[in-house]
Amino acid sequence: MNALPPHAHQLGEASSIWFKLTPLLKGPDNPMSVLMQMAERYGGVIPVNMGDQRVVLLSDPDHFKRVLVTKADDYIKYFDGLKPVFGKSMITHDGALWQKIRMPQQPAFHPDMFAEYIPYFLDAIRSKMELWTKLAETGESVEMVEQTWTLAADMICKALFDRDMPFNPHFVFKCVKTYTDVMNHKSIRLKKVAGQDFEITEEDAAKAMDVWAGVPPMVFDADPREERERTLLKMIEAAAADPAIPEFDEQQAVDELKQYLWAGTETTALTLAWALYLTSQHPEASERIRKEGETTYGDRPPTASDYSALAYTRAVIQETMRLFPPIWMLMRVASKPDVIDGKEIRPGDRVALFAYGAHHSEKYWENPEQFLPERWLGDAAKKRKPYTYLPFGGGKRSCIGGAMSQVENTLALSILLRRFRPEYVGNTPPGINATVTLTPKGGLMFKIHERD
Ligand code: HEM
Repeated sequence: MNALPPHAHQLGEASSIWFKLTPLLKGPDNPMSVLMQMAERYGGVIPVNMGDQRVVLLSDPDHFKRVLVTKADDYIKYFDGLKPVFGKSMITHDGALWQKIRMPQQPAFHPDMFAEYIPYFLDAIRSKMELWTKLAETGESVEMVEQTWTLAADMICKALFDRDMPFNPHFVFKCVKTYTDVMNHKSIRLKKVAGQDFEITEEDAAKAMDVWAGVPPMVFDADPREERERTLLKMIEAAAADPAIPEFDEQQAVDELKQYLWAGTETTALTLAWALYLTSQHPEASERIRKEGETTYGDRPPTASDYSALAYTRAVIQETMRLFPPIWMLMRVASKPDVIDGKEIRPGDRVALFAYGAHHSEKYWENPEQFLPERWLGDAAKKRKPYTYLPFGGGKRSCIGGAMSQVENTLALSILLRRFRPEYVGNTPPGINATVTLTPKGGLMFKIHERD
């Protein structure tokens, strides 16, 4: 076997936190159950010795606040194994450098920009509808996360980069999945140790990341759709050309695109796919979404103010992210000693904020396992204890694109469900695969039907 690039080994390596967590991620269909039980039995701060390293599992919202806000500078970002996905993009940095890189991009995510983006989101949704029209005719089954990933990637390319997707999204999606599925990495390693064959090789993971590295240059080189001036891509190009920010070099620009094409697609796509699953199991919610769309924007394309009026559809997206938070665990490294709830935190400890645990805890939610979008309507949501719901993280490092993703997913769900009835045809309930994101085990298989 040829020498492999180092990144082929990282995510599933024995030293990787994601690998180390795998023994805790057990349970036939929901690997979260062991962590939930641990949090219940041993409390909100659980130090776990894992070989040469300590992982501290936090599940109390007050402690989330301490790590993300009050003492944010003492808990730094942690990207073990994910460097090939993110390069040196801002998501991986801390302190002054992070700020310097984030600042020139921030205006692209101001809510005032959403009205400008909506027509491009709608273009992407229309292309998806053309495909679904054909799928409804042929009756073939499709995997929904792949469907929603390609939609999310199209929305970002059109709205933020002023490009039509210059790459084959299905191929790129599969490459990213090959790399990020930690369980695959683990079984590769274990089977290799046992001298067995394995289906996905480390070379495949390395090749997948080579494909990934080739995507941003394709975006830069593609023809602009409309030569728009106020796009994220233009802001990134301007920052790379600005001598006042020498750290923002050409590689930084390439890596920022990598970051958006992963962080902005994977999470958005998972949310929409899980929302389509949940609504397929709750026809009354689908019907309410359909009616809300009908009365809000009828037969014309929805606008930014229509988005504001789609309160129930938005609540369905919020409830989906409560039940299936795409980022189920926020990861930090302690850079200074600390004491949380009487437990010592040492520099170098991996501190894992168990967001899924808070989202599913009976302490903070009535009937936490039930899909109840209504809990997001009215005053109840405002009275909730802070940091019990953190799909987009918290504090200064919270998601730059969170509000925008709500617009994308609310509009997509509303429009798709008005025309189609996606029928879930996989196992019920679907299994969960806790990789870096919370993904459905084996995907979510659907058949698409036109509504009568
Ligand atoms: C449902 C959709 C989304 C979810 C659930 C989500 C979740 C998150 C979370 C939890 C974080 C913080 C991670 C941490 O603190 O360790 C984050 C950061 C980030 N997200 Fe999102 N995200 C979503 C959509 C998007 C979109 C649409 C974009 C951009 C197009 C985006 C770009 C980013 C970036 C760049 C960061 C890093 C910010 C920084 O470090 O300054 N995300 N996201």
